[in-house]
Amino acid sequence: MPPINTPPNTPPNTLQRPVAIVTGASSGIGLAIARRLAADGYDLAICARREDKLAKAADMLRRQDINVLSQTVDLRNEAQILDFFAAVNAKWGQLDVLINNAGLGHKESLMAGKTAAWREMLEVNVLALCICTREAISLMQPANSGHILHVSSMSGHRVPAITGVYSASKFAVRSLTETLRRELRAANSNIRISSVSPGIVETEFAEKYHQSAEQAEKTYGQFPVLQAVDIANAIAYALSQPEHVEVNDILIRPTQQTS
Ligand SMILES: NC(=O)c1ccc[n+]([C@@H]2O[C@H](COP(=O)([O-])OP(=O)(O)OC[C@H]3O[C@@H](n4cnc5c(N)ncnc54)[C@H](OP(=O)(O)O)[C@@H]3O)[C@@H](O)[C@H]2O)c1
Repeated sequence: MPPINTPPNTPPNTLQRPVAIVTGASSGIGLAIARRLAADGYDLAICARREDKLAKAADMLRRQDINVLSQTVDLRNEAQILDFFAAVNAKWGQLDVLINNAGLGHKESLMAGKTAAWREMLEVNVLALCICTREAISLMQPANSGHILHVSSMSGHRVPAITGVYSASKFAVRSLTETLRRELRAANSNIRISSVSPGIVETEFAEKYHQSAEQAEKTYGQFPVLQAVDIANAIAYALSQPEHVEVNDILIRPTQQTS
């Protein structure tokens, strides 16, 4: 079945759908992005750690008549990341879009936080994003086209209270977005890089961050917060631009969010 809305990265004169990778597609923003890309006619490769949630997501996405590769990957493990990209290459031999979405926060202060929590944030939010980006570029280079999108955060633009290492990890993502843009320009590449920086979005994030369902309810109940689909729409906007337009960052807050 042909794509519903032919995305701009569709190779001309072929029936091959564009291929997108979404990391962290087992819940929240990643799952919403995967659903949107499936509706827009992409074949998808999705990864995360929780096998049951990932399998459920893959079944749901396949109902859109697209091809889905679903692989459990712990992004703290480089060998698993490389296996995943090798599987994508073996299945399609091309890559059009990478969504670096997987990420997490731990409420662990700089004054007294646990090293393991800091390490996990840096490994997933920063290092894995770099590894996935490098591997994606090598799959995109033969066609000299593609689009990499980072799900960053408003916490990469200002420092909230008691953010520990989380905000630093997202400042790093902001820097890495511009660094990659500069590298791609220096290489005269047509590959594009975008970042989306959300404020509060209702997902599993707050419960994991606060280690409290009650605190998560408070976070998401204070005013109408963003939904994961709002971020998927922003990603779809960046992806739908013509080739001469590179959306560099989209800052997106709930209307009533102050900070
Ligand atoms: N929610 C917000 O308010 C908000 C605001 C700004 C930015 N963000 C960013 O949005 C992105 C998505 O978060 P979310 O809000 O959708 O939260 P979420 O529902 O907790 O989703 C996080 C995703 O990342 C995956 N992940 C975490 N650690 C992983 C690891 N070691 N290996 C593989 N996958 C891993 C999780 O999958 P598994 O647990 O199955 O591995 C899950 O699919 C993150 O980068 C976050 O920083 C969120």
